[in-house]
Amino acid sequence: MCGIVGVLGTHEVSPLIVEALKRLEYRGYDSAGIATVNSGRLDRRRAVGKLVNLSDLLVHDPLPGKSGIGHTRWATHGAATVVNAHPHKAGPVAVVHNGIIENFRELREDLAASGYVQESQTDTETVALLLQRAMANGASPADAARSTLKLLHGAFALLFLFDGEDDLLIAARKGSPLAIGWGDGEMYVGSDAIALAPMTDRITYLDEGDWAVITRAGATIFDAQDRPASRPEARIQLDATRIEKAGYKHFMAKEIAEQPVVIADALRHYTTRDGAINLPESLDFSTVDRVTLVACGTAHYACHVAKYWFEQIAGLPADIDIASEFRYREPPLLPGAVAIFVSQSGETADTLAALRYAKGKVGKVLSVVNVPTSSIARESDLALPILAGVEVGVASTKAFTCQLTVLALLALKAGRDRGRLGPDELAQHLNGLRALPGLMNHALGLSGDVARIAEDLARSEDVLFLGRGAMYPLALEGALKLKEISYIHAEGYASGELKHGPIALIDDTVPVIVLAPRDALFDKTVSNMQEVMARHGRVLLVSDATGLAEAGAGVWRGLALPECPSLFAPILYAVPAQLLAYHTAIAKGTDVDQPRNLAKSVTVE
Ligand code: F6R
Repeated sequence: MCGIVGVLGTHEVSPLIVEALKRLEYRGYDSAGIATVNSGRLDRRRAVGKLVNLSDLLVHDPLPGKSGIGHTRWATHGAATVVNAHPHKAGPVAVVHNGIIENFRELREDLAASGYVQESQTDTETVALLLQRAMANGASPADAARSTLKLLHGAFALLFLFDGEDDLLIAARKGSPLAIGWGDGEMYVGSDAIALAPMTDRITYLDEGDWAVITRAGATIFDAQDRPASRPEARIQLDATRIEKAGYKHFMAKEIAEQPVVIADALRHYTTRDGAINLPESLDFSTVDRVTLVACGTAHYACHVAKYWFEQIAGLPADIDIASEFRYREPPLLPGAVAIFVSQSGETADTLAALRYAKGKVGKVLSVVNVPTSSIARESDLALPILAGVEVGVASTKAFTCQLTVLALLALKAGRDRGRLGPDELAQHLNGLRALPGLMNHALGLSGDVARIAEDLARSEDVLFLGRGAMYPLALEGALKLKEISYIHAEGYASGELKHGPIALIDDTVPVIVLAPRDALFDKTVSNMQEVMARHGRVLLVSDATGLAEAGAGVWRGLALPECPSLFAPILYAVPAQLLAYHTAIAKGTDVDQPRNLAKSVTVE
């Protein structure tokens, strides 16, 4: 979602800020802007659309200054227009903001009553006006920020710059992450370490409720009660923040291709050389009576696959939920349960709120995250990193399969702890998992075939994905991936559900993608596929060579994956689902890495 950058520099900062904003592009945005203070004078430039529009504007109308703030905006309140773009400015104050100020309407009415009227529809300009009013009443910038922060409800990260102050930034965090970067005579602020990586590897994350007064000499941090607070400085690993396409046309293509390597890394990390599971022993499933898995979007589908694993492998009842529903449903949770929150970014607002709801009610709160410094990781009893490396493409790919890998290991550990898996069976399953990187390499070799199928798929208006058992959530994920980046309407169904409604959609214009590894349910899935073909549906059968030989007669197209252990087939079959979405988007010419309306890290509810 919105990206925030601030620099108190020793040289012109506009180019640095634009460069840092580029590194935040992956979060998704629809307008951008920067403000600087030059010889004490606060000024700003804003543009709708891609950053290149802001860069063009700056070429024609440069913005000098050695201190400044910048922002990429993902519209929440008010359309993506220049007037609504950040930074917002009111009198001596400019502000950039990530998140939502929930009580902005009443604050705006109060401001209007005292003559402070906004020009935009945003909740952000309200904050700038509140500071302007406080400063007009004699408050210093820091006092104005302190008193204004007390008035705001919601989850947000804020960064302020002030007219007449070219050595001052004020930053605040409540619900949305914000990091301070330390330089040599320079200071930086960013909504994540990725933005700051080219400038510094010394980072201090603000805690919930913190706010900070920053000058070139350093930062003074205060907690939510305005007490001076000391927060540790961390060295970020620059490798973890490297965002390069490495010769690929898109980040998504690179991230799909990286899967064999990152999954092998995760398996190495969570198993020992002699082939045992290497997960903290403090996580003991023997006395657990239920797992509750909560997440959003693709991460939720990973939880859905894991439900099958926990139930089948460990005999452990598993509930799954969408975080935005879970957080408000008031589900009863018991101390014998483990709650698992899955999130690539670790900052998804609904997942974080769901985690906070569960804390103290269940025996243990566990998170499966890609960003180990994220809020979700930090607020869990135990955080397990998925080790996928930075994921830049908005459509999640390698994070999904790494989430599945870690969840599979958790289910195996649960099976072992509960005496459901003996050493031989466990070793067999672990070998099955270890085979996946090699099998995924074979699956990646199908990219050319998939591209040819995608040429046809791109002409469709609706596509159905079918799967049974743990392939059902994968059908949901395949459909999500396709609609996200190709904008083709797609739905995933449990193949047994077809007859209960969706079969009405079938005709010869609707491609039906059948995900059918040769497992115990293969024949049943094939029967459902026949029902589609009997109604002239165009079936793409994804199976292995034997599956295609047995059941592929008369299908529109077939894709033969290597044979794989059926339990972990969802991890392998994710590859053709991702490739189909990718190549269909290419055939349609859509923006693969930054599809319209989507944000990478959804920090508002
Ligand atoms: C889809 C996708 C989203 C995310 C969802 C949760 O490709 O990426 O559906 O999975 O927004 O995000 P995280 O995992 O960061 O909590």
